[in-house]
Amino acid sequence: MKVTWLGHAAVKIEGAGKTIYIDPFITGNSMAAIKVEDIDKADYVFVTHGHGDHIGDAVNISKSTGAVVLANGELSEWFIAQGVKNVQTMYFGGGSEFDFGHVKMVYALHGSTISGSEGAVNGGVAAGFVFSIDGVKIYHAGDTGLTKEMELLSDEKIDIAILPVGGHYTMDVKEAIRAIEFIKPKKVIPVHYDTFPPIKADPKQLVELAGEKAEIVILKPGESI
Ligand code: NI
Ligand code: MN
Repeated sequence: MKVTWLGHAAVKIEGAGKTIYIDPFITGNSMAAIKVEDIDKADYVFVTHGHGDHIGDAVNISKSTGAVVLANGELSEWFIAQGVKNVQTMYFGGGSEFDFGHVKMVYALHGSTISGSEGAVNGGVAAGFVFSIDGVKIYHAGDTGLTKEMELLSDEKIDIAILPVGGHYTMDVKEAIRAIEFIKPKKVIPVHYDTFPPIKADPKQLVELAGEKAEIVILKPGESI
């Protein structure tokens, strides 16, 4: 089981023989570790919400690899309208079994409007995902502010929490510490910082503030755990 940060909120998970992308914003991402043309294998693409820095290259990746795109109902409709053939809808609660493990959609405190040539399109409710693959639980928070709903995630016994720390659109470093207190994950990978000027952040500050609460794993784009 391998988790690779591709820059911004884009993450690749390889486990149970499958390759899963989450929020694959690669084209136009100054932090991107790869080029979208280099993606030759993808089984699933999960999209947390409708903002361009999260939908990213999901349409092209699905078209070139046949990957299934998973998102909420409103985003699913939009993906179908873009010509994506393999789309599956998920909503909050319970989760679903896949051929690689289990995935549950969870709350995120954020928006989800899709902006494009057709103007602003309703992208439903923003979300995060909890993946259980090869006995490892991974929480990708998507974009979210700090919310008490995160306390519920402590029931999940999260091994790796992928948390936005850049502020402005999401939690900042200090709020991420409160999130860690709520979620109680073993490890935390900070993401969604430094890509654009308003989300400059120093993840080393997270290490200082976290103390014994969780192990903070600072990756460079392209690095894995
Ligand atoms: Ni967003
Ligand atoms: Mn974002």
